[in-house]
Parts: sequence; C-alpha cells; structure tokens
Amino acid sequence: MEKTTGLKSTFDQVIEEHRELRRMIEDLRRYLEKPHTQVADGTAHVWASVLAEQLVKLHDKLFLHFREEEQAGVLDDLAREFPRAGNAVERLRGEHVEVLGEVREILGAALTCSEERPLPGLSVSGRAMSLLERLERHERKETELIERLYCEELGGENY
Ligand SMILES: [Fe+2]
Repeated sequence: MEKTTGLKSTFDQVIEEHRELRRMIEDLRRYLEKPHTQVADGTAHVWASVLAEQLVKLHDKLFLHFREEEQAGVLDDLAREFPRAGNAVERLRGEHVEVLGEVREILGAALTCSEERPLPGLSVSGRAMSLLERLERHERKETELIERLYCEELGGENY
C-alpha cells in the first residue's frame, strides 16, 4: 500500500511536469512559427537572442526533470513492471542525454545566429522544431508507460 502511494505521488509529479513541458514546447513552437529572419537584416539578433534565452530555460527544466525521473527510479520502475518494454525504457533513458546535447547544440547555433552570421545546414528554427517533436514523442511515450503501469498494475484510475 505504501509502495502504491509512493509510486502514485512520484507518477503524479512526473505527469504534472510533462504538462508543464508541453506548455513550454507549445510556447516555443509558437515563437518559432512567427515570421522571422535568421541572418543579417538587423532583426536576427533580437530573434535569436530571445530563442537562446528560451532554450536555456528549456535546458534547465529538462535537466532537472530528467534527473528527477532517474533519481526517483521512475524508469527503473517502468523497466521492472514492463519487462517486455525494457528496450523502450532503455531508449528513453538514453534519449535524456541525447536531447540535452541537442538543446545545447541548437543553443550554440542560436547564439551564432544572434551575431547575424550565416549558418551552414538546416536553419536554427528547423532544428529547434525537430527537437521539439522529438521531445514531445519522448515525453508522450513515458506518459503512456506511466499511465499503463499506474492503471493496470496499481489499480489506479485514468489520469
Ligand atoms: Fe519525462
């Protein structure tokens, strides 16, 4: 019973954080969708600096969120309760490091863009959009697994 209560509060917290992350992702996506230029027309600096600021906040939020999930044993619980989803859980764990690295790379690109220097390859906003899609998929998968574990194994109600 105590285990159930402990897991429930951990899961509730993770699910609530996923909601907050979805709001951050939506705000960032809206910002990226606004018309903007990324090079040398005198407005790129402001656009890219605001983006960089938002990416720093996203990085901080994700860093703390991923660390909490790992330290609270959320992923371990999922792997233990769903042995057949073991590979999927390990992929999710590996994505934590990858996603943080991707945010830092795009942050670096945004800062270069804020100097109004042209960047090779994909646009900063294109890369940021792909990152947001990846992050959404990641959190959705975790949410699904957590909900299944909570509802099926612990007899909880739907979120
Ligand atoms: Fe998560």
